[in-house]
Amino acid sequence: MKDTYLNLVNGPLKQVAKSLGLPQPVPLQRFASTPESYRSKPVLVLGSGPDAQGLADLLLANGLEVRRHANSGESLRAIIAVLDDASAPTDLSATVLEVGAALRSLAKCGRVITISTAPNPAQQSPERAAATQGITGLTRSLAHEMRAGSTANGILLDGVDLQAPSVAAALWFLLSGKSAYVSGQFITVSSTAGDALSLEEFMSTGQAGPLAGRTAVVTGAARGIGAAIARNLARDGASIIGVDMPQAGQALAEVMNEVGGRSLQLDITADTAAESIAEAVGGTVDILVHNAGITRDKMLANMDASRWDSVIAVNIASQARINAELSRRGLFAEGAQVVSLASTSGIAGNRGQTNYATSKAGVIGLMAASAQDFAERGGSINAVAPGFIETDMTAKMPTLTRQVARRLSSLQQGGQPIDVAETIGFLASAGARGINGSTLRVCGQNMVGA
Ligand code: NAI
Repeated sequence: MKDTYLNLVNGPLKQVAKSLGLPQPVPLQRFASTPESYRSKPVLVLGSGPDAQGLADLLLANGLEVRRHANSGESLRAIIAVLDDASAPTDLSATVLEVGAALRSLAKCGRVITISTAPNPAQQSPERAAATQGITGLTRSLAHEMRAGSTANGILLDGVDLQAPSVAAALWFLLSGKSAYVSGQFITVSSTAGDALSLEEFMSTGQAGPLAGRTAVVTGAARGIGAAIARNLARDGASIIGVDMPQAGQALAEVMNEVGGRSLQLDITADTAAESIAEAVGGTVDILVHNAGITRDKMLANMDASRWDSVIAVNIASQARINAELSRRGLFAEGAQVVSLASTSGIAGNRGQTNYATSKAGVIGLMAASAQDFAERGGSINAVAPGFIETDMTAKMPTLTRQVARRLSSLQQGGQPIDVAETIGFLASAGARGINGSTLRVCGQNMVGA
């Protein structure tokens, strides 16, 4: 669906919007339109510890232009603040103020990335916990202050150091247009699992892509976000098996023809869904994306059993059954990676969506409780929680509600299915196996569900 307001304030009504102080969303630089945006300008690395220099060296080794101090008048692609050595809140001052001083040099659709130790009050001294937790408040607030399509996100080191392969993968993701609609979020790296992908490997596509040689099953692939996921995983080299309802068979076949994938017409709530998936794959599953989902909104006072039960059955019970069954039969490959679609409604709740929010919060619980099992197979399981994404589902919203929902994020616009798909491609890559059991929001830092 077209965002007419965004087009108008970037065209004929630019001055009017400015003088009236109206929201001025800018078109985001996505990987598809500007694949090399991460190389367009230098990256400023701030921080005084040895890890800041280590990070600068990593970026240099991957062909990026790096600065350790801001040069006046020079435009920057990104500012990275390495704060993992902070042992008390008072340690943050110098680097944080340097970030602030450099912000005006940040190019349109630029990036601020903080890298810090994950807060862990049980293991850290009170002062250190205050610093590590403090950095999360800093990053979230900064994300609210970003302008012109820029974002701020954090990488949290949870028992690992900067050398963990998934730190590099998270950096490549955040620096690129693949993370255009991710802001105010944290990517927690909790193990040294995963392949050390170079920036070039991470950004490659097709047979050189990060998913080459792997089979990906995507449910609900006939349209919307699922179709975008199928296209994106195929672009990154995976062979696709798209699953959708028999009624959506025609649309599914069209998407699968486009990506050279195979169709599986299947209601995922069927008792035998896991067997059908395994049969279609003809071996073990490398990547499984649980995307199929439905809404049947009603206030709880007016909720009937069919609305409640169908949402629970499709959105969560089927995922639990398919995971358990594939696992029981040994049909997940070594290193298998699963990504499930949650929703910001599952995090914050939403009026009229008790059934949907129960199912989506359930996805987060199921995923987190399965993380250990996947880690033991060398793989990972994570959830992605989209906010307002422009799809058939959100096109049905009343016009005014839709306009408000779009503007209520730090990026002042809705996301595109590709934004969710890029995040899933990242979490399904071998570089991201050290990220496990986490939920990543793709919501432009939506105020709803914060
Ligand atoms: P959509 O309604 O456009 O597409 C969902 C697809 O799933 C359809 O092709 C449908 O036929 C399929 N499907 C439904 N029930 C199925 C079943 N029992 N078996 C097999 N396939 C089935 O939805 P959209 O917007 O693309 O959403 C995709 C996922 O993202 C869903 O899980 C949704 O809850 C989630 N999401 C979407 C948001 C948005 O703003 N559009 C926001 C947050 C989460």
